[in-house]
Amino acid sequence: AALYGAERRNSAGVDLSDVTQLSALSRELDALAGRAWSAAPLIGGQLTAGPASAELRNPASGEALGSVVDTQPAQLAQAVERAWRAFALWDATPAAERAACLERAAERFESERAVLLSLLQREAGKTLADAIAELREAVDFCRYYAARARAGFAAPIELPGPTGESNRLEWRGRGVFACISPWNFPLAIFSGQIAAALVTGNTVIAKPAEQTPLIAAVAVRLLHAAGVPVDALQLLPGDGNVGAALVDDVRIAGVAFTGSTATAWAINRRLAAKNGPIVPLIAETGGLNALVVDSSALPEQVVEDVITSAFRSAGQRCSALRLLLVQDDVAERLLTMLGGAMAELRIGDPLALSTDVGPLIDAEALAGLAAHVAELEAGAGRLIYRCTLADGLRGHFLAPQAWEIPAVTALDREFFGPILHVVRWRTGELERTLDALNAGGYGLTFGIHSRIDSTIRAVLERVRAGNCYVNRSIIGAVVGVQPFGGEGLSGTGPKAGGPHYLQRFAVERTVSVNT
Ligand code: SER
Repeated sequence: AALYGAERRNSAGVDLSDVTQLSALSRELDALAGRAWSAAPLIGGQLTAGPASAELRNPASGEALGSVVDTQPAQLAQAVERAWRAFALWDATPAAERAACLERAAERFESERAVLLSLLQREAGKTLADAIAELREAVDFCRYYAARARAGFAAPIELPGPTGESNRLEWRGRGVFACISPWNFPLAIFSGQIAAALVTGNTVIAKPAEQTPLIAAVAVRLLHAAGVPVDALQLLPGDGNVGAALVDDVRIAGVAFTGSTATAWAINRRLAAKNGPIVPLIAETGGLNALVVDSSALPEQVVEDVITSAFRSAGQRCSALRLLLVQDDVAERLLTMLGGAMAELRIGDPLALSTDVGPLIDAEALAGLAAHVAELEAGAGRLIYRCTLADGLRGHFLAPQAWEIPAVTALDREFFGPILHVVRWRTGELERTLDALNAGGYGLTFGIHSRIDSTIRAVLERVRAGNCYVNRSIIGAVVGVQPFGGEGLSGTGPKAGGPHYLQRFAVERTVSVNT
């Protein structure tokens, strides 16, 4: 209970059904409309000047947001050197002081909510509800890891001394951590990785996704303002080449990465090729997440949870539902109801409060998914329902759609967007279907809708997935409540927002004193 129990509090967020709260927030957000933002390498607290490498645009509208200066190789070397020199002092700082920095950062994230929510909406294309949920998660990560560090890292563990020695076990930082984060949670995952690495005594080089450097730059400034030393946290915007050069640097002592399985493999290879310290990789990658529905399930509840899991955030969550596995004898009715519910989805500008589904992140994401849709249209699938896009949408929109495919094995990789695949299974075939799912190798989220306890137990026993949900949606893991992360192709563990996450960022040291 000392680690997290009754004292745990998640961020309150904003109640959008409360008119007073909503209008106060709307005024704050309106005041930021049209503001220009910028991001650049932040090294030793100094912004480095340079010609803009790219202009950032709102993925829903094409509106110009600002620009980013990408990191040059000499700047990267300089940042790592500073982080390396800063390590000893930060690692020697009491864990409670490091935790206090994160707690102050959480307060700053909450007090600067308008800027963060505005950028989540404009730079990452999030609906207001998704943006608020993400801000809450970022705040939760800071407070949760602070609490875990106070409870588990502040004092050494005293061990027995059978021969008269005193023995103790301490946690220390590893060194300079590279934190490489994705665009789909550009605040929560970005700051969650950093918070975990910092609070355990590491210094951090943060490499945000190239699509979302603006919000990363704001978050780093807020962490500095909360007391994190400028050399202990530096920001290096750029594309995958910056990430690769960072991983290659021999002074990097650990890597936290969230993104695609293919990139995690690439990082692993680079780490293995270095003649230097053996560097751990903490990776959280993709999933082919499935939801099993049997004939005893409540259809209305299933449809609501499928809509949430497959289409919220335009399907751009690693937890999102990709494969709906429905028992044959209820499939027809369920899929008709699903189509009806999809017809009600409002797709468009996430700045409009009524919008359910916003844009994809960029043109490249749209092109990749369009190619998959073309294959489905060419015969790989049977269309169940496709939403209609309003005329005049100017961003990277893909209509939410559901396709029936012949078998689980017809889908061999993750498609990161609002495309749901449906497979029917006949009575007696569920075990085989689950074995095929396991054989695919991913294991992130999984759900079952059933009212038969023995079925639920048997399915949970068989399936290999990091986050299993029964009779509910399969997205929206809450820090400290549903620690999040997968198995196999989906990641290395440990789980973000869980009680064992911090240990992987640290080393253990034993001290034996002959008294
Ligand atoms: N933690 C997020 C979720 O559970 C990740 O995508 O939805």
